[in-house]
Amino acid sequence: MTQNHPSLDAYWMPFTANRQFKAAPRMLVGAEGMHYTTDDGRKILDGAAGLWCVNAGHGRKRIAEAVERQLHTLDYAPSFQMGHPAAFDFAERLAAIAPGGPEARLDRIFYTGSGSESVDTALKIALAYQRAIGQGARTRIIGRERGYHGVGFGGISVGGIVNNRRAFPQLPGTDHLRHTHDLARNAFSRDLPEHGAELADDLERLVALHGAETIAAVIVEPMAGSTGVLLPPKGYLERLRAISKKHGILLIFDEVITGFGRLGKPFATDYFGVVPDLVTTAKGITNGSVPMGAVFCSRAIHDAMMQGDPAAIELFHGYTYSGHPIACAAGIATLDIYKEEGLLTRAAELTEYWKDALHSLKGLSHVIDIRTLGLVAGVELDPRAGAPGARTYEVFLDCFKNGAYVRYTGDIIALSPPLIATKSHIDELVTILGTAIRRAE
Ligand SMILES: Cc1ncc(COP(=O)(O)O)c(C=O)c1O
Repeated sequence: MTQNHPSLDAYWMPFTANRQFKAAPRMLVGAEGMHYTTDDGRKILDGAAGLWCVNAGHGRKRIAEAVERQLHTLDYAPSFQMGHPAAFDFAERLAAIAPGGPEARLDRIFYTGSGSESVDTALKIALAYQRAIGQGARTRIIGRERGYHGVGFGGISVGGIVNNRRAFPQLPGTDHLRHTHDLARNAFSRDLPEHGAELADDLERLVALHGAETIAAVIVEPMAGSTGVLLPPKGYLERLRAISKKHGILLIFDEVITGFGRLGKPFATDYFGVVPDLVTTAKGITNGSVPMGAVFCSRAIHDAMMQGDPAAIELFHGYTYSGHPIACAAGIATLDIYKEEGLLTRAAELTEYWKDALHSLKGLSHVIDIRTLGLVAGVELDPRAGAPGARTYEVFLDCFKNGAYVRYTGDIIALSPPLIATKSHIDELVTILGTAIRRAE
């Protein structure tokens, strides 16, 4: 064990092989810009923006100062039947850049504390809205295979990752579209995959099976991140939008990863030019500095809920930490940084370089696909016989040992560095990853 470690016993770590980790811990003790520092004093290039959240890089003083100021001014305020200025200010700032463009901005904002809470909130808003407009029989929610929507019961019910589901009961009345991952037809696409738009017709199939009048909403990640960087086939999202609209089914984009500049536009909604009814966000909303999430809602949904007795609570939902003053202060400072440094569109400037750098790994043994979009990449490796995920774990360890942090999920390495990355950071990351893949057996 390295320096100054307290006992590792008490902390039950999330999504971690606890015993394996505690036998050989990887400890981060500091962070600045593009790098972490480990407890043995090594600099580690952050190839994943933490968990897809530190879009403006680490150690941003402006955020720290805003948080400190807010802590001294108003550390906490209840948000049920009470308000505080930072929550309203931040909502106005978010509304000004909200997904959908000036015509169709989803500019009504409901605060949460995380991506999982944003997902459950969006599902509940969808159900409440359908009821409010006299469509109360619409209680069914459709997700997609291989989707990741966090770990709440709503999120795992519409999600499609078996290990996150098998030990737990799920909401009744959910169903799933097929996923769009198709290596046989689309491997090594340099742009969006050509094949698979027709998979959106699964929604028609589910309408035929269940009846449109029972379906409240469909939720997808416009680009699926945590399940291994799965890109939407050309035309797929447009088709899903058309079918959902035709049947009165709300479309929810889960932009917890793609929100706040990851694809080179403020939101994937803007990148693809397909406007859903609700957008879930978290992570980059505060640059990962303070836990927070937000659901962006269309005015049609919001306004439909603002009917009836004005003294009645319109939505029986909210969290102790909805609109937390510290998170709002961090969020406002984060948006200032994004604006001043052009970070919500910076990925677009790097995307060709990024693509070329990643595709240079084509031809290495075990590499069976490379996918990039914005400043995201997935490098898929052939699974080792009888030991799925073992090869990527080795690659992850090798990268960490040699100065880079990458994510892996199953047999896919996922990269999503902070949006302040330079070309030389990209070169370094790809070199470390390529060397690790070459060494993996
Ligand atoms: C698309 C998506 N939705 C929801 C979540 C859950 O977010 P959180 O871990 O903040 O609850 C994630 C987390 O990675 C995500 O990628």
